[in-house]
Amino acid sequence: MKLLLFGSWVFCYFASLLVLRMWTEAYLRSPLTRSLLVNMVSESRTQQEAHEWYGCRTEILGEAVRPAFIQSYLDTETQAFLNRSAEKSGCLFTQLYHSFVSTLFSPFVSRTSINGYLGRGSMFVFSPEQFRQLMNISQDWKSKRLLDLGAGDGEVTKVMSSHFEEIYTTEVSATMKWQLEKKQYRVLGIDEWQDTGFQYDLISCLNLLDRCDQPVKLLKDIRRSLEPSKGRLVLAAVLPFHPYVEIGGKWEQPSEFLVVEGKTWEEQVTSMANGVFKEAGFAVEAFTRLPYLCEGDMYSDYYHLDDAVFVLRPEE
Ligand SMILES: C[S@@+](CC[C@H](N)C(=O)[O-])C[C@H]1O[C@@H](n2cnc3c(N)ncnc32)[C@H](O)[C@@H]1O
Ligand SMILES: *[C@@H]1O[C@H](CO)[C@@H](O)[C@H](O)[C@H]1NC(C)=O
Ligand SMILES: *[C@@H]1O[C@H](CO)[C@@H](O)[C@H](O)[C@H]1NC(C)=O
Repeated sequence: MKLLLFGSWVFCYFASLLVLRMWTEAYLRSPLTRSLLVNMVSESRTQQEAHEWYGCRTEILGEAVRPAFIQSYLDTETQAFLNRSAEKSGCLFTQLYHSFVSTLFSPFVSRTSINGYLGRGSMFVFSPEQFRQLMNISQDWKSKRLLDLGAGDGEVTKVMSSHFEEIYTTEVSATMKWQLEKKQYRVLGIDEWQDTGFQYDLISCLNLLDRCDQPVKLLKDIRRSLEPSKGRLVLAAVLPFHPYVEIGGKWEQPSEFLVVEGKTWEEQVTSMANGVFKEAGFAVEAFTRLPYLCEGDMYSDYYHLDDAVFVLRPEE
């Protein structure tokens, strides 16, 4: 009897999700309602939007950072990610299963961990080509140690990994650690990477500054752990800057605050370069504007946020 009840509950659940999906397809994807929902981006808007994703009004950047700007474009690899993502989100039964698991566990488990468990919601920051352009390196450039902090499921780590002999990562989410180990990356503890007795040639801190509890300490630790002359930090920050930390299934305020001034992307980039980064002992060598893309779900083909990606050099 209990089993039957549970079975019918699951059936009703799936049926209502199915109806919801059809409803969103029919109504929410009309231009008017869609414009109210920032994240509902359909394939046809991609080409037009591409310009907004990468554009920068260089005239309102601060003079000191202006020469470091690099213009990026929607390249083949990025388009391929968008295509794969649209294909996956169109796969109804997988999406229904994902939605079911999320609903069941979201009161107790972080969204990051649920995605890690399901192997969904992979992110895209840059293509191998965009990474090389930003770093000003060739395809066969090699170095020794990479440390990717808050690496997520390791899909972004993979883009950088071919240039390094040893790859280290950190994560707080248990299911994400599991994904990283599956990809054969060494996972260090969040209080361990600073005290290994060696320094790193590249540290990446992608979309982590606004999601960790102590960003000031993090930047200080990075500065100390980098190889002092050749070492570089690749840092991506979602702008406008809105810090919050995911603990269990809840969102909380971080205990340390970074001061980021200005409203526009350009103003916030300038403020970070002259404020936060300078105070932490870093100079901006290069930066670009990129969309931070996430695989979609049953409601949208993909999601995007606005990223600023910097290459930072340690300074006196
Ligand atoms: C927004 S995701 C970014 C993932 C990946 N770097 C990317 O750019 O797509 C932030 C990740 O940082 C992890 N995280 C949060 N605080 C952390 C900390 N103090 N140390 C390491 N990872 C942390 C979270 O579990 C989450 O997977
Ligand atoms: C993405 O899909 C479009 C349309 O379906 C196709 O024309 C294009 O070649 C695809 N691009 C890549 C890089 O897969
Ligand atoms: C890129 O690196 C080359 C040498 O490898 C150097 O000559 C050039 O000035 C660098 N470009 C930038 C923009 O830093």
